[in-house]
Amino acid sequence: MQEQMERLPASLTLKRFHAESTPMTKPTADHAEASPTKQFFVSMRTRDINLADAILDLLDNCLDGALRLANGNSVDYALHFVKIELTADRFSIEDNCGGIPREVAKNYAFKMGREPDDDRDSDTETIGMYGVGMKRAIFKMGREALVRTRYGDDTFEVPITSAWLNAKGWEPLPINEPTEAREKLAEPGTVIHVHELYEGVSRHFANEAFENEVRTAISEHFTMFLQLGLKVELNGKPVEPVLVEVLVSKRDDGPAPFVFQKTIDDVLVSITVGLNTARSLGTDNEDDADFEGDRSSATAGWTVLCNDRAVIVGDKSRLTGWGDGIPLYHPQFAIITGIIEFRSKRADKLPVTTTKRALDTSSNVWLESLVKMKEGMRVWISYTNQWKNHPRADQSNYWEDARPLPLKAAIAAVVSRDAVRKTGDQVEFNPQKARVLPEPPGKTPSSRRIVFSRPIEEIRLVSKMLFDVDDEKPGIIGEKCFELTLTKAKKRDG
Ligand SMILES: Nc1ncnc2c1ncn2[C@@H]1O[C@H](COP(=O)(O)OP(=O)(O)OP(=O)(O)O)[C@@H](O)[C@H]1O
Ligand SMILES: [Mg+2]
Repeated sequence: MQEQMERLPASLTLKRFHAESTPMTKPTADHAEASPTKQFFVSMRTRDINLADAILDLLDNCLDGALRLANGNSVDYALHFVKIELTADRFSIEDNCGGIPREVAKNYAFKMGREPDDDRDSDTETIGMYGVGMKRAIFKMGREALVRTRYGDDTFEVPITSAWLNAKGWEPLPINEPTEAREKLAEPGTVIHVHELYEGVSRHFANEAFENEVRTAISEHFTMFLQLGLKVELNGKPVEPVLVEVLVSKRDDGPAPFVFQKTIDDVLVSITVGLNTARSLGTDNEDDADFEGDRSSATAGWTVLCNDRAVIVGDKSRLTGWGDGIPLYHPQFAIITGIIEFRSKRADKLPVTTTKRALDTSSNVWLESLVKMKEGMRVWISYTNQWKNHPRADQSNYWEDARPLPLKAAIAAVVSRDAVRKTGDQVEFNPQKARVLPEPPGKTPSSRRIVFSRPIEEIRLVSKMLFDVDDEKPGIIGEKCFELTLTKAKKRDG
């Protein structure tokens, strides 16, 4: 049968197929409704996202607003604010990020889903792409909302009421003019109020633990913007950014992080892997009595940024390569920090899932990057292996002039070095190959540690004699004494 059909002309085959499988059809005047219901959006789509992420979606819109306002120029985030209020009976978010143009409000902003002809952002690194974030966040929280916005001097507001939500049809929402002067916004921006909160939402908003969860999520996810000066307030208190940084020595031949940069599938990929501190690797020593103690760093592991948003902070799992051809994460690696950034004007090319807060690990750009991420990790895994049984101070002395830098600054500080390899648009710096990493002294099996205690008064006395100050670190004093004696011993030995 299959063979026969292949030999027949296409039109005939199709006819025959229909005749055999289904009776021929005739259109009738009836139609089957195929439009989505409000119920679908209000109770189903809202389950795709958790409450904290829905709030982050609203913040994404503010930042997209600031980008559009800058109109291709770089944004001065220090000029922008976002204020979020969570209480048991209402939610609000207010920004000064340019507002919604009336035409956009009329045709796009309140639609459930983006129209194919909506190509407003084809030239900016905005994150909005599906046309659902704002609506989904509102519907997730409550049954009454008001979006008030000012674009230029044009102020208007769009109410979403429970009556509209309950009605079956998709009536357009009204666009109203504010009647009272106090309702006009002081500068271009947007305010969204949600009330008639759902019971579970209201309980979350009244709970301090939830407020902290949102605060942490904002400080991590929007860390780059906060570092650039964006002011975000949650219930009246500023949100501080988490700092994800790697150490870079000021000296051209000093220790520096692994760096890699390349454009893959329209996405600019930038990677750096280095140490977040040089002070907690190695064995404890008495001269480290002033050391503040081991900090198991929350920012150790991998941080993944997409168009400046941190999708993941401090990942120590298989997702970012740990335990996959390299060792599993364990505390010895708490000083290793990797940062990878993906940048693209095509938001759909970024390796993020539809919630934008998780990685799409099946994408080609991610898989290719992972190879380089692991290469960078190997450098530091072997470094920590080399140093782990040596006194802390020996290792950290090499890093004394190093400063912690975020990704962009770290790359900028490294690319000027001679050892950087540039091919086409690809930039690569491997500190191991460039031989800028300190190696432990006396790697021979004959080396032994010397540890002893002396009264502090006596140590001060020797410190004063050798270094002119009486508070040099005991380890350094001990080492100096040994060196002096060794030089004498060698001389005597001829
Ligand atoms: N705070 C805001 N400032 C400026 N414009 C905004 C703001 N909030 C929403 N908008 C406008 O409303 C539109 C719809 O927002 P919504 O979050 O629903 O979809 P989106 O951002 O286009 O896509 P996504 O679903 O991926 O977030 C945005 O494209 C933007 O034009
Ligand atoms: Mg959005």
